[in-house]
Amino acid sequence: MRYDIASYIYEPINTLLEVPTGIRKARRELIRRARGKVIELGVGTGLNLPFYPEGVEVVGIDISEKMLEKARKKRSKAKVSLMKADARKLPFPDNSFDTAVSTFFLCVIPEKEVVVREIRRVLKSGGVLLAMECSPPDNLLFRAFLNGLSAITSRITGTNFRTDIGKLLVENGFSIARERKLANGAVRVLTALSQKEEEGYPGEEPAELQR
Ligand SMILES: C[S@@+](CC[C@H](N)C(=O)[O-])C[C@H]1O[C@@H](n2cnc3c(N)ncnc32)[C@H](O)[C@@H]1O
Repeated sequence: MRYDIASYIYEPINTLLEVPTGIRKARRELIRRARGKVIELGVGTGLNLPFYPEGVEVVGIDISEKMLEKARKKRSKAKVSLMKADARKLPFPDNSFDTAVSTFFLCVIPEKEVVVREIRRVLKSGGVLLAMECSPPDNLLFRAFLNGLSAITSRITGTNFRTDIGKLLVENGFSIARERKLANGAVRVLTALSQKEEEGYPGEEPAELQR
């Protein structure tokens, strides 16, 4: 399984890419904003675990046992539990979490919409998705380059820079509260809100018809 193999080289390569570019610092700033009961999708080797604040309860899921083995060695101020699970079919009831975290996960997984819908299902109304994902950069030449590179990286790690993750989230019921671009937008840091009440309940009249 490719993520089991990747687990041996993932962290050294990531550290080389993330530290000089400021991505590691942005990770820390994003993750320390997690609140309440948190689900982290594709937790990988647990790079985010040391950045969670005290008092939060984190459930980290990943499909790769080897990745989880590495994550289990990480320290965290938060209460962490790690389990093998598939983000395409999360083993949690609706409205279970206050915060969802996805870093370099939605840009990796082919079934993005299925996963976004699952995230929304398990988030409580008013819940927050904290995401840091590869996306198409603003500069057209850089975009063309990363588009081509995605043909290779998507085969090796799944990573691709072709999907605008912010747009995907909006199309699937989230609103974007905050967006920060790194590396010309090739990496985006997003805070997205899931408001379920707006959708109403079956049989309920739309708000403007209610008196
Ligand atoms: C690029 S790594 C990102 C790891 C971590 N989020 C980070 O920021 O370093 C993607 C992770 O997603 C996991 N993954 C891939 N498909 C998955 C799925 N369907 N369900 C859960 N995890 C999955 C992989 O095993 C891998 O650990």
